[in-house]
Amino acid sequence: MDNLLSVMNRLMKVFAQANVPSIQLPRIAVVGAQSAGKSSVLEALVGRDFLPRGSGIVTRRPLVLHLINEPSLSPTQEYGEFGHLPGKRYTDFNDIRTQIDKATDDEAGTGKAVSNKPIFLTIHSPTVVNLILVDLPGLTKVAVGDQPKDIEKQILAMLEEYIKPENTIILAVSAGNVDLANSDALKLAHKHDPDGHRTLGVITKLDLLDQGTDAADYLNNQVIPLRLGYVGLCLRSQKDINENKSMKNAIEDEEKFFRNHPAYATIASRCGTRYLGQTMSDLLIKHVAKTLPQTRVQIANQLAQVERDLARFGKAPELEGGNQAFMLRAITEFSQRYSTSLEGDVNTGNE
Ligand code: GDP
Ligand code: NA
Ligand code: MG
Repeated sequence: MDNLLSVMNRLMKVFAQANVPSIQLPRIAVVGAQSAGKSSVLEALVGRDFLPRGSGIVTRRPLVLHLINEPSLSPTQEYGEFGHLPGKRYTDFNDIRTQIDKATDDEAGTGKAVSNKPIFLTIHSPTVVNLILVDLPGLTKVAVGDQPKDIEKQILAMLEEYIKPENTIILAVSAGNVDLANSDALKLAHKHDPDGHRTLGVITKLDLLDQGTDAADYLNNQVIPLRLGYVGLCLRSQKDINENKSMKNAIEDEEKFFRNHPAYATIASRCGTRYLGQTMSDLLIKHVAKTLPQTRVQIANQLAQVERDLARFGKAPELEGGNQAFMLRAITEFSQRYSTSLEGDVNTGNE
C-alpha cells in the first residue's frame, strides 16, 4: 500500500499544479454539530496543531486545506501558505492559527457571524498525504449574538455545497456525549450519500460519557449502521488545549484510554486517531481509483482542446499541453499500480 500511496501523492500533486477547474480533487469534509470536535478531528488527521478550536462557534468560514507532500523538505522546513497571502511562508503553526482567526474576523466580523467565502491554506510537509480537507462551521439551530436569523439555513447551505460532490468523503462527526440518535450530521450525510459509500462516522468525546454508559453499540455499527462504519476518538479537552498538551501525548493517552476501557478494549485496534488516519488513506485510494476513469476522460478532452487551440495559434503543443499529458501519464501509472495492488491483496474483494 505504501508504494501506492506515494504514487497517489504524486498524482494529487500534478492535479494540484494543473489547476484545471473541471477536475475536482478528492476531498474530505467534516459535518457535525457545533463543538462536536470537527476542527479537532481534522487537526488530528494532519498531526499538527494549527486550527482554531474551542467551545461555541469558532470555525466561521470554510477552510479549504490543501496538504502537499514534499519529500525534499525536512520536518522543520514544513510550512503553510494562504491563498490570500501568496508568497508568505508560515513555518510557525501558531502563526497559522492566528492568521486563520484574523482572516475569519476580517471577512465575517469579530462576532459570531459566518461567511461562506473560503480561506485557502496549503501545507507543504514531508509527512502528509496529498489531499484536501475542508473544515466547516457546525450545524446550529438558534441564532446567537450578531448572527442573522437564518443562520441555520446559511450554514446548512454552506455544508451542502461542500458535501454534495461525489468525490467528497464525508466525515460525519458526532460527540459521543450527546444523543447520537438525533445526530444532524448523520442525517445530512445520509441525504447526500444515501447508500453510504463515502460517509465515515466519527464519534468524539468518548471520555465524556456518563459513568456506566458507553458507545460500543454505535462503534460496532449496531445502532445507526453506516456502510463504512464508525471510528471512536478521545481527543484533547479544552483543558488539554489550554495547558498546551502535545498532539503526541494526546495520541498516546488516547490509545491507553481505549485499551484500558472495559467497553472498548476488544475494539481498541479500530479506535483512535491513528486508526482514523489509516482508514482515511485506504478510503481515499479506493475513491481515487474509482473516479479515475472519469477524470481521465476529462483530461483527455482538455488535452485535445489545448492541442486544437495551439494548432490554431501555431505554437508548440508540448509547451502548453504538457500538464494534461503529464496528468494522463500519472493517472495511468496510478491505475496500473492500483490494479496490481488489488491482485496482490486477497482482502480487497469486499468493495
Ligand atoms: P468544532 O466546533 O466541531 O470544530 O469543535 P472543536 O474541535 O472546536 O472542539 C470543541 C471543543 O471540544 C474544544 O474545546 C475541544 O478541546 C473539545 N473536544 C474535542 N474533542 C474532544 C474529545 O474527544 N474529548 C474532550 N474531552 N474534548 C474534546
Ligand atoms: Na466549536
Ligand atoms: Mg470548528
